[in-house]
Amino acid sequence: MDLSHSQSSLSLGFLSQSSPPHRTQIADDSISFQIDSSFRDPAHPVSTIPLQLLEQQTEDHRDDNGVEDREGREEEDEEEEFSILGHSMCLKRRRDSESSSSSPFSSKRLSMEQSDLEARRSAVRAWGDQPLCVADPDVFEIMEKEKQRQFKGIELIASENFVCKAVMEALGSHLTNKYSEGMPGARYYGGNQYIDEIETLCCDRALAAFNLDSENWGVNVQPYSCTSANFAVYTGLLLPGDRIMGLDTPSGGNTSHGYYTPNGRKVSGASIFFESLPYKVNPQTGYIDYDKLEERALDFRPKILICGGSSYPRELDYARFRQIADKCGAVLLCDMAQISGLIAAKECVSPFDYCDIVTSTTHKSLRGPRGGIIFYRKGTKLRKRGMLLSQGDDSDQYDFEEKINFAVFPVIARWTTQ
Ligand SMILES: Cc1ncc(COP(=O)(O)O)c(C=O)c1O
Repeated sequence: MDLSHSQSSLSLGFLSQSSPPHRTQIADDSISFQIDSSFRDPAHPVSTIPLQLLEQQTEDHRDDNGVEDREGREEEDEEEEFSILGHSMCLKRRRDSESSSSSPFSSKRLSMEQSDLEARRSAVRAWGDQPLCVADPDVFEIMEKEKQRQFKGIELIASENFVCKAVMEALGSHLTNKYSEGMPGARYYGGNQYIDEIETLCCDRALAAFNLDSENWGVNVQPYSCTSANFAVYTGLLLPGDRIMGLDTPSGGNTSHGYYTPNGRKVSGASIFFESLPYKVNPQTGYIDYDKLEERALDFRPKILICGGSSYPRELDYARFRQIADKCGAVLLCDMAQISGLIAAKECVSPFDYCDIVTSTTHKSLRGPRGGIIFYRKGTKLRKRGMLLSQGDDSDQYDFEEKINFAVFPVIARWTTQ
């Protein structure tokens, strides 16, 4: 794209009142600051620093035939004084004098400006249709190098996967143009009928992937990641400072469940805004020490007990987690981010039989587009149907749906897809 005409016509300089203005000619559209040397000398403090916004000087006032453009000389400076943060400022603007506006040179200049504007417009129009390799060869080249790196190298990172072509196609599409704040059928902006169709289809498929009945489970597919999904759950269900309990990060947990470094530094939003106490694995066996977990949970009384982690390569005992959550009146949240693909494929035990809420990333083992997802129980609580499953209060109906959807939007909007 030819942007050679797109120079800024302003330059910016700090000039001391006491020193003569040094004006540098600027040939590109950068902004330059000149600070008078006496300003830097503590022995000669300068109380006011006038700022001048100076129109860029034309380097050569001659036209193609070598005839000097008289406008270059006949222009007059128009000054406007104002103040920003107590500093007096002076805006200098070059203006054609009245006599020059009637000169034959101004119509020539006008037509030059018009053709310059037209050139800029067509450059922008062309840019809209150019492939990346033409529109931005620098970015294209770096992306190509990353593609080669992915093809030729191998990193066994459990969080990562390679999406299929169809996912790439859906992601790099016109859907990126649309704002769709709110829920299907209840959006902030118009024109969301097809976005609604896609989101509804996505929710149906998410429930089907884990064999969930829409009578008893709802799902929110708007978070951008599992971290924001987890944070939406905390935000919807808790007050700042309320307690959560998850697997310690050094034991294989995830920082989004709340983590403090050994020197007490809070390294995630979960530990900054909520109080977290972790449980750990038995260092001898590598398994979660459920007895210690129970003891700690009964002392700490978390409002949310979290199971699931980033690097815990064992099955979780969800029934035991449920028992402990019920004993201390906690909501049981499973973060299945790493293993959701294995659960959907029935290679791992499902957390849905015992948990109240289940979160996941969609781009790890599920191999989908980048995103997060929140499943929540709805309808009548299971303990009212004969099973001991509580949510920490005495109501017989789950109330996660409204709380979680409201937390996703509007409360933590922009961490989620809108
Ligand atoms: C268990 C668990 N939860 C949450 C996350 C964060 O996921 P995301 O990158 O989608 O925020 C990870 C990341 O690896 C994880 O392993």
